[in-house]
Amino acid sequence: MAADGAPQVTEPEETEVSEAQIAVHWREEELYRPPPKFIGQANASDPAIRARFTEEHFPDCFKEYADLLTWDQYWHTTLDTSNPPFWRWFVGGRLNACYNCVDRHLETRPNQAALIWVPEPESEATHAITYRELYRRVNEFAALLEGFCGLKAGDRITFHMPMVPELPIAMLACARLGIIHSQVFGGFSGAACGGRIADSGSTVLVTIDGYYRNGELIDHKVKADEAVKRAHEEGMDVDKVLVFRRHAGQYASTTPMVDGRDYFVDDVMPEYAGKVVPPVSMPAEAPLFIMYSSGTTGRPKGCQHSTGGYLSYVAGTSKFYQDIHPEDTYWCAADIGWITGHSYIVYGPLALGTTSVMYEGVPTYPDPGRPWRIAERLGVNIFHTAPTTIRMLRKVGPDEPLKYDYHFKHMTTVGEPIEPGVWRWYYDVVGKGEAAIVDTWWQTENGGFLGSTLPALEPMKPGSCGPGVLGIYPVIYDENGEEVPAGSGKAGNICIRNPWPGIFQTIWGDPERFVSTYYEKYCRNKDSTDWHDWPYFANDGAMQAADGYFRILGRVDDVINVAGHRLGTKELESASVLVEEVAEAAAVPVVDELRGRAVEMYISLKPGVDPKSGIEDKVAAAIESEIGKVARPKNVWIVPDMPKTRSGKIMRRVIAGISNFTDVGDITTLANPEVVDEIRVHVEKEKVARGEAPRELTEAEIEEIKKFGQAE
Ligand code: WTA
Repeated sequence: MAADGAPQVTEPEETEVSEAQIAVHWREEELYRPPPKFIGQANASDPAIRARFTEEHFPDCFKEYADLLTWDQYWHTTLDTSNPPFWRWFVGGRLNACYNCVDRHLETRPNQAALIWVPEPESEATHAITYRELYRRVNEFAALLEGFCGLKAGDRITFHMPMVPELPIAMLACARLGIIHSQVFGGFSGAACGGRIADSGSTVLVTIDGYYRNGELIDHKVKADEAVKRAHEEGMDVDKVLVFRRHAGQYASTTPMVDGRDYFVDDVMPEYAGKVVPPVSMPAEAPLFIMYSSGTTGRPKGCQHSTGGYLSYVAGTSKFYQDIHPEDTYWCAADIGWITGHSYIVYGPLALGTTSVMYEGVPTYPDPGRPWRIAERLGVNIFHTAPTTIRMLRKVGPDEPLKYDYHFKHMTTVGEPIEPGVWRWYYDVVGKGEAAIVDTWWQTENGGFLGSTLPALEPMKPGSCGPGVLGIYPVIYDENGEEVPAGSGKAGNICIRNPWPGIFQTIWGDPERFVSTYYEKYCRNKDSTDWHDWPYFANDGAMQAADGYFRILGRVDDVINVAGHRLGTKELESASVLVEEVAEAAAVPVVDELRGRAVEMYISLKPGVDPKSGIEDKVAAAIESEIGKVARPKNVWIVPDMPKTRSGKIMRRVIAGISNFTDVGDITTLANPEVVDEIRVHVEKEKVARGEAPRELTEAEIEEIKKFGQAE
């Protein structure tokens, strides 16, 4: 009502402004210039590089990336758009990814470390694996895959491995033979792994008996039994389980080895010792690997990445954005179980012939000085991690970096939006004011970076990733497909107008879902073979400032980004309803100081079930066993009923509002508005008692909560 009591007249324009267009206000951050010393040595130091990648040079500009590789046969067509949106890059070209990451460096740097592996226990020795040794071990494992497992090009294999050097060795062995690998994050449960085995149609599972985390030797093989069982239930039989051993000659698991199915790699390996397997020349378009990622609904999506386009893209972005030179010591502290590890621990850095550091364990083990000790001892000069780790290291050891004598020339943040205050600590304390920082925005689907500053040429702005990277032309659309004016500071859905070599080829086994999730929303003409009609919809909200820099606001679909890990609401809810007493479940994000977002579950019980029987713990356990520890909810709330629309749809934004102490918005359309207050009073009281009242949220966070659950 207006102040004079007359009904307020709503201007038609106002009602038509979609939620996506609401301006997001924040203080513009001050720009930071890269240090002169960095500029002097940078791979991309000539401003002309931008001009080479403008739209008029597309798609041929990407020849510059492809030329970083060694091709067996050059391509005849840079980009084939005849079957959109199934783009094909470097068509006619042939190459081998393993050859490019290993063999071709033997002549120039056989004795340089390719990988340096740091075990979690500080009493254990660090291992340096030279390019020569990597070549030997990759060949031997390839011989085993071929000889013992009978695998060949095009077959799939699943790895469920932690951060040990056997993982990149096994990946490269697959690449050598054209076998498509699918690495499942080691922290995921056996059940989650089994689902992915079945989806990819893998006949072999590669695992390890155990690994160290937080000082404990964890039994990992136990998950393999669960994985094989789950895969079988989903129609896929695993023939062989290859088990590495964390300590030679010992067995860290309590589960028995299954006769005729489970084999210790070190038992089988002697037969293949010293064997050399020629790299198989693969078409550029042959799939290199599958990486699963959570989506809004249903099963995780197997993002299928190509050999030629993908490898070109990660080599090019590693060179110009990570500023990797062969003589650098580069440490990306991500897990190889995520796309960041595939692209920027293994394929990109090794294609460039540098030294890539891998760390087995938890960054704060045994104390928060650990990462800086590793950096000092190994002479790491490029450091790459995620905001969640930066927040944690700041919290537990704000002054630790200053105690160690290391010097980074370059640092990366990836995986979730970084708060400007956290960025500044990273810059001042971790980087000692000496390092250029890139905030790289991208996704599992993308192969490599989409948004970032060029580290020597474009200033940094805390909290903004920067402009589109070389050859990537982003645009922000509103819900109706209208372009949000560039540089207007208004929020909308960020899309990429053009294809690029690193884009995934399809969702494994589900091309329709590939089209509907990423292209349908903004496709201008389904019959067109002109790429301009097929923008890629990233499912992220973003805004662009007047200087052209993008600020990523988070997901616009129902995916919850916990510590940089994408978790689908559907997966969380399906896991919860496995608990017998649970009738319905809804997952919502809650702003979390360390993890960015955490998961909260709301559940309603079947009639007659007593709510006092430890059901919360059962739900948490079900989620942990179906998905993994990363997904463990912060709280499980039992509610008398879910807030629902008259058509029976759970209104997640309402409970998301309650969990975050924000406005629940309009509830007049609910079938049962009376439950909202009941739930709110209970949850808020409990949260205050648990010391969980959140800090004041930013406008962007409030927007995200408000829109949660509106995706479908
Ligand atoms: C988010 C990780 C803000 C985003 C490489 C995206 C980011 C999702 C950034 C992909 C960043 C990633 N700033 N948000 N620099 N990087 N994101 O598939 O919401 O695990 O859609 O790939 O993480 O997560 P994914």
